[in-house]
Amino acid sequence: MKIVLCGYMGSGKSKVGCLLANKLSLKNLDLDEVIEKNEHMSVAEIFSRKSEIYFRKKENEVLKLLLSNSESFILSLGGGTPCYANNLELLKKNKEVKLFYLKADVNVLSDRLYKEIETRPLIQSQKNKEDLNDFIRKHLFERQFYYMQSDVIIDVTELTIEETANLIQQKL
Ligand code: S3P
Repeated sequence: MKIVLCGYMGSGKSKVGCLLANKLSLKNLDLDEVIEKNEHMSVAEIFSRKSEIYFRKKENEVLKLLLSNSESFILSLGGGTPCYANNLELLKKNKEVKLFYLKADVNVLSDRLYKEIETRPLIQSQKNKEDLNDFIRKHLFERQFYYMQSDVIIDVTELTIEETANLIQQKL
C-alpha cells in the first residue's frame, strides 16, 4: 500500500507522514526532500536558480518514479503536487495508492506559514499577514478542486499531528 498525503503548505503533511511511518513501520518519503537530494539544492534554491517550471518537471518525474515500483510507503506530497501536470491522474489510477487530503482552515495555515514566509518561494512576496491570508484564501480556492478528489478528506484544523495520524490509521 502507498499512503499518500496531500494538502496546502503548512497542513502538517511531513510531520504526520513521519509519525505514521513510525507507527506502521513503513518507509517514509517526502517528495520535496527526494527532489532536494536529487538536485543537491533546497526547494527555494531550485525555484530561484532554475525556475518553478523546472521544479514542477522534477516533481512530476520523481512522483512517476516512486509510483512505478511496488514497494509500500508513506509519501508526503508538496502542496502543489496534485495540481500540476498529470500528477493527480497518476495518483488516482494507481491501485496501491490511498490519497489523503489534510484539510486545514485558512487562518491556521496563514498563522503557521507567516513564521516561515522567508523559506517558502510561493509566499515570500506577501508583505504582511493580511496579504498572506488573502493569498492563501484565493490559492486554496483554486487548489481545492484537486485536493478534494482525494480518497479520504480529514479536517485537521483542530487536530494534533498525533490525532491526525491515528485517524488516518483508522481509515486505512
Ligand atoms: C509548494 C509547496 C512546497 C514545495 C514548493 C511548492 C506549493 O511543499 O513543494 O515550495 O506549490 O504549494 P510543502 O507543501 O511541503 O511545503
